[in-house]
Amino acid sequence: MTDPLAEIGSLSAVDFDAGALFSGQPSGREIKGYAAACRHTPAIDPDYLFPAVMRDLVVWFMSGNDPLYLFGPTGSGKTSLVRQVAARLNYPVFDITGHGRLEFSDLAGHLTVDNGSMRFQHGPLALAMKHGGLFLLNEIDLLDPASAAGLNGVLDGAPLCIPENGGEVIPPHPMFRFVATANTNGGSDGTGLYQGTLRQNLAFMDRFWLCEVAYPDSTAEIQILERRAPALPADLRSTMVEFANEVPDTSISGARVVRELSALIDVTRATDLERGTLHTPDHGVERGVRERLVVAAWKQKVCFLEQGKPPQKVDCGFR
Ligand SMILES: Nc1ncnc2c1ncn2[C@@H]1O[C@H](COP(=O)(O)OP(=O)(O)OP(=O)(O)O)[C@@H](O)[C@H]1O
Ligand SMILES: [Mg+2]
Repeated sequence: MTDPLAEIGSLSAVDFDAGALFSGQPSGREIKGYAAACRHTPAIDPDYLFPAVMRDLVVWFMSGNDPLYLFGPTGSGKTSLVRQVAARLNYPVFDITGHGRLEFSDLAGHLTVDNGSMRFQHGPLALAMKHGGLFLLNEIDLLDPASAAGLNGVLDGAPLCIPENGGEVIPPHPMFRFVATANTNGGSDGTGLYQGTLRQNLAFMDRFWLCEVAYPDSTAEIQILERRAPALPADLRSTMVEFANEVPDTSISGARVVRELSALIDVTRATDLERGTLHTPDHGVERGVRERLVVAAWKQKVCFLEQGKPPQKVDCGFR
């Protein structure tokens, strides 16, 4: 088996035409990527529909080394957007998901036992800085702000110093990029829906470009569903999106049709196939909608408990 890191070391940087790559129309504007994908490059999702905010991400990619902070509600497409842009650029992605006890050594690396002797194993941040990859830190607002401040130097473009590895110093590779994603904009969660998120330190937040990723609009949701579930009749797809948008807004949109409904349909199909009883797409839809109603009822309950608002009637409009 080839050494995955040797493979990254041999990647050569190339300039792509940003317009040709992301919209099919040459734009004369160059964006750096790699000539070939490696095992750390995310796979291209052929059904992925680039949202308008993709332009902001592409401009950020072209404009330098400042870190980027993408925020938006759950399922709005932050992580997939970063991974799909990286996939088109053949960029290696090193990712990790934040949590309250994440420590700097989880990012930089730690000593490990290898064949009876101690060896330093680089973490995702160190690998991205060393080899010119994209470091993707998901759910950054779950980090303890005091631990997150340990990243300030790296966010400013300083080298990463690793005393545990004999004082190794890793200067940032020119292709290194840092992207964080979160459900809040770092100023804490006012909705009560994102438990565990923490208000981040202002000096820390100040180091990022901020970019909001909202839910796709109904037209985009219908297009995504069309790509994900082409066998569904078109009117059924429209009804699913309508239904999702009719769930009362309890400070987040109910329109999680892409992830919740289509994922449920996939699961339903998979389990039905396993049992050897392939049902029609309607069966998946029916189960998906039933499950979705449970989610809607749960959101209503949260709203009632936290804001004292009585539950409202859910008009699903499902024919
Ligand atoms: N534009 C899109 N085209 C196709 N699929 C999409 C699109 N946006 C999101 N999805 C799909 O929706 C799902 C949720 O997206 P993703 O995980 O990127 O959301 P997120 O904003 O990172 O959520 P969280 O805040 O929970 O981490 C994924 O399965 C993804 O593939
Ligand atoms: Mg995510």
